[in-house]
Amino acid sequence: MGIYRPRAAIRRLFLVVLIVVVLNVTVFFHEPTKNYIVDTYHGALDTSRPDSQSSLPSAPKLDRTDASDEFFKTLFAQLEGAAPMKREFGWGDIKAKECDMGDVGFDSNGRDERLSYDNLAKCLQLPESNYNSLKNGHEKFVKYLSTVDTSASQLEQIYATKRGIVTVGGRRYSLLSYLMINMVRRSGSKLPIEVVIPPDDEPETEFCESILQFNARCIYFKDRLPTSLLANLSVKSYQVKGIALLLSSFQEFVLIDSDNMPLKNIDEVFDYNVFRDHGMVIWPDIWRRMTSPQFYQLAEVPIDFTKRVRNAGDELSPVSRYDKLENTVSENKAKVPMHDFLGTLPDPTTESGQMIVNKKTHLKMLLLALYYNQYGPEYYYQLFSQGTSGQGDKETFAMAAHILKEPFYQVKKTFGFAAYMDPREGKSEFQGAGLLQHDPEQDYRYWNILKTEIEGQQEKYGTFDEDYHIKKTFYDKMLGKVGDQPREHLFLHASYHKYDPWNLYNEKNLMHSDGKQFRAYPCSSTAFKGFDVELFLWEIVNKIVCSENPVKMAYIDKLKEDTDKFKAVCQFTKDRVNHLNETHDEYVSYMGATSNEKHCVDIKRGH
Ligand SMILES: *[C@@H]1O[C@H](CO)[C@@H](O)[C@H](O)[C@H]1NC(C)=O
Ligand SMILES: *[C@@H]1O[C@H](CO)[C@@H](O)[C@H](O)[C@H]1NC(C)=O
Repeated sequence: MGIYRPRAAIRRLFLVVLIVVVLNVTVFFHEPTKNYIVDTYHGALDTSRPDSQSSLPSAPKLDRTDASDEFFKTLFAQLEGAAPMKREFGWGDIKAKECDMGDVGFDSNGRDERLSYDNLAKCLQLPESNYNSLKNGHEKFVKYLSTVDTSASQLEQIYATKRGIVTVGGRRYSLLSYLMINMVRRSGSKLPIEVVIPPDDEPETEFCESILQFNARCIYFKDRLPTSLLANLSVKSYQVKGIALLLSSFQEFVLIDSDNMPLKNIDEVFDYNVFRDHGMVIWPDIWRRMTSPQFYQLAEVPIDFTKRVRNAGDELSPVSRYDKLENTVSENKAKVPMHDFLGTLPDPTTESGQMIVNKKTHLKMLLLALYYNQYGPEYYYQLFSQGTSGQGDKETFAMAAHILKEPFYQVKKTFGFAAYMDPREGKSEFQGAGLLQHDPEQDYRYWNILKTEIEGQQEKYGTFDEDYHIKKTFYDKMLGKVGDQPREHLFLHASYHKYDPWNLYNEKNLMHSDGKQFRAYPCSSTAFKGFDVELFLWEIVNKIVCSENPVKMAYIDKLKEDTDKFKAVCQFTKDRVNHLNETHDEYVSYMGATSNEKHCVDIKRGH
């Protein structure tokens, strides 16, 4: 999307996103984790015996094996055994007064000192006992990782299916994943899909049956974990994604969050060069990294403050293009972003709503990420993000790969927004509704073209350029356009306005005060290639929630208890479908427009 977004708007958007995320987490997992009774799944698995599947010819998959039981038992014992001591201080208490902490956008010049070693160090000073305990635990877990058998034969006993798509369901995420699955199948994808249901959300029997028609199935923890483990396992929200990736039966997987709608055939990504070359592909967030230097210390990854190797995401220009290289080490520590130095994880941060991983090469990354998530709320989330936007599991995967020196490719081009100008009285603000993440293969191809060009002209690009500006020079000019084709998008991560009718109705979103609806992505975008994604998804919402023949799931059943509210929500849903239907022809007529002019369905009142 070619819209320039003022920083304040982005900040506001992400504040809202952050709040939404935080709320989700608390609402999602407010009930205490209960031990649960092992019951039947698809009328099949008695998981009390590891060999039970042999007597069940119709069981969908061979899920538990002796090897997988052993693997998971050891893993959880090691996680427990490498626990750091409990934290007894508040993060505010260990911050120096001069600490200047807050979000810095991926392209913002002039905030380098906030990103510097000196500032990042001031903002987090662990007490010695905690530091030592973290260091010992980390060392212990990394040591265990070195003993994990990642041979192909071992992996095949734990992960029986070659490729597929994995997501997390349960509560409203079951509803959303139903939509995501439909988007996947619409794109022509044929690979199997696994929806991991957290223990607290079992059972989702009818929902799980309803997705079988799409070659999708639910995975309960008990399908994959030995009973002895389940009894004591307490799964918190922040752990679910990390565990889900390990429970899924795929050797190679694409993780797609349930609120994330793929726009192209996902099956093709497994054959992408970018995936073959790296074994792990992730996508960027729009914030710069605030990781504490103490994390690198405790993980024993040295930072070389004499070797600047990049300028934010610009890893291609010779450093001499933007840095006179006259600084002393103490100046480097005081003024230059710490994550520009050799040894650190590059900027920007990660948006982990999608990820492609090959367990054959990156299993240990997933295990270390699980460790960071296990002790994330206690320590690691703060160490990685220092309280800035989106703090949570998002950084754990890239950091785990970095610490283990496993390769990965993070898409270079930052996402665009699927968005609207709020038409309601007194608002008229830019509102992001979803994130448009780019196709990684095209991004990688463009990156390599750029790299070749710059490497071939070191003199031209290596001369100090007073006007070098990270946003204008790198993100706009260098990354903005490489080649003749427009950038393609792979995902619409609808993270802000989720396709959850309750949520939207309650927050009075996407409608005027008189109930009139408007579109969330009213402007033509090449991302959708003439496809009316909103109409497609809302028709499904209407069908599975409000029709005579709905899909039964726990989330909807619970909301149905309030009859009046349910009626109102379904009225909202029907109004929405009608509005999208009425504006459909106008909307798609813009999609083929070739001019640069922006065409938008009029979302103002009275249309
Ligand atoms: C589960 O927890 C109980 C009580 O803490 C303990 O006695 C038991 O050994 C644990 N079981 C396993 C399999 O770890
Ligand atoms: C809009 O609704 C009408 C009436 O139900 C239907 O015939 C038509 O196909 C719908 N249009 C689209 C684009 O779905």
